[in-house]
Amino acid sequence: MNQFDTIHNVEHNFAKSNPNYLKGMFGATDVMPLWIADMDFEIAKPIQESLQKLVTRNIYAYEFSTGEVFKAISDWNLKRHKLQLNPKSFVQVSGVLTGIGILIRELSEKGDGILVQPPVYHQFFKVIESAGRKVVHNKLKVSDGRYLMDFEDIERKLKTLNIKAILLCNPHNPIGRVWTKEELQKLVDLANTYDVTIISDEIHSDIVYSRTKFNSIASLDNIENHIAVIGSPAKTFGMQSISNGYLYIPNQNTYKQIKNTIGSLYLDHGSIHSANATIAAYTKGEEWLDDLLRYLEKTMNWIQDFVTNELPEVTLYKPEGTYQVWLEFSKLNLSDAALKHLVVNQAKLALTPGDWFEESHTQFMRMNVASPLSKIQQAFHQLKNALDKGVDCSFNEAESNTDCCSC
Ligand SMILES: Cc1ncc(COP(=O)(O)O)c(C=O)c1O
Repeated sequence: MNQFDTIHNVEHNFAKSNPNYLKGMFGATDVMPLWIADMDFEIAKPIQESLQKLVTRNIYAYEFSTGEVFKAISDWNLKRHKLQLNPKSFVQVSGVLTGIGILIRELSEKGDGILVQPPVYHQFFKVIESAGRKVVHNKLKVSDGRYLMDFEDIERKLKTLNIKAILLCNPHNPIGRVWTKEELQKLVDLANTYDVTIISDEIHSDIVYSRTKFNSIASLDNIENHIAVIGSPAKTFGMQSISNGYLYIPNQNTYKQIKNTIGSLYLDHGSIHSANATIAAYTKGEEWLDDLLRYLEKTMNWIQDFVTNELPEVTLYKPEGTYQVWLEFSKLNLSDAALKHLVVNQAKLALTPGDWFEESHTQFMRMNVASPLSKIQQAFHQLKNALDKGVDCSFNEAESNTDCCSC
């Protein structure tokens, strides 16, 4: 049996399955939780061992190991992505969103615009707005079933609006694109022309499938003055609740500015659990990751076959990267409320609603598939049964009862 087939006991204090969260967000607790982006798998053995070693030590005196952590990160990037990073350009932050929040504050003023590409990870809106900056939407477009950047719209907005940064998501959550070198180069050229910084969130960089290559924005030409990268081992190794993030800033003046700000707030004192787990992950976790990627790819292929054969009214945007699948339900012609009822109350699934990522995407849902395949198969069978049956009689949204089967 494959290690990723094991179904582990679910802890109710995990956000994904916490009954209070489920009730608050989905109005139900008897649902299979496939929403928040973390994994149901046990972490790699070397990471477990490094944490166990710490626990048995019983002494937690001050200990700083960022030098070793940064070396592990740069060695990993060289080996995995053929990306040469200068270990002197890293700054530690407690998490990716913290890093983005700091960069936005340091690289722009209140009221300035920050460009995002919805549908996109919903916390981007909050991190921008809570810093008093304006979210500028550059919606992705769909061509032949594939999401693409709308470069004309970006250029128009960079020309006419007071934009200081582009917040890039690569690989892109929730639609699963891994941006090509050509796409990224166009973005870099625009950033150079209009003097804005690309803040590149690369937290999903290692979760890419066999026919795709991940390109960091830091691998492109002429980026020195206009990029900042944010990374973390959290998604790659399933360490969401213990890992820190890091910034990579090639421009030395910007690097010093950001490092000073972070240092003055003592935000770079990460925990030793995170440091040791990160070193173990990046130095000894590669085999586990390769096994994981093979497993996830098998899951993705199974999903593609199932949707094609059994759910022709559902559109799957098969991801090039990330462990989420983006599903479109508009062909069902259901009202938004009826769709939600069908998925939550009949299929008994807690999926992330598409309008979290962009308000018009009410007919989309994101499913996190980093779970044992048997669980994902069960989820899709539940979905099929619900769709075959149609919206049931317990749905009583007064104005949309035309969606209801026979009542
Ligand atoms: C694109 C992206 N950035 C950031 C995060 C959150 O990162 P952190 O918990 O380190 O702030 C997530 C989590 O799902 C994400 O998908």
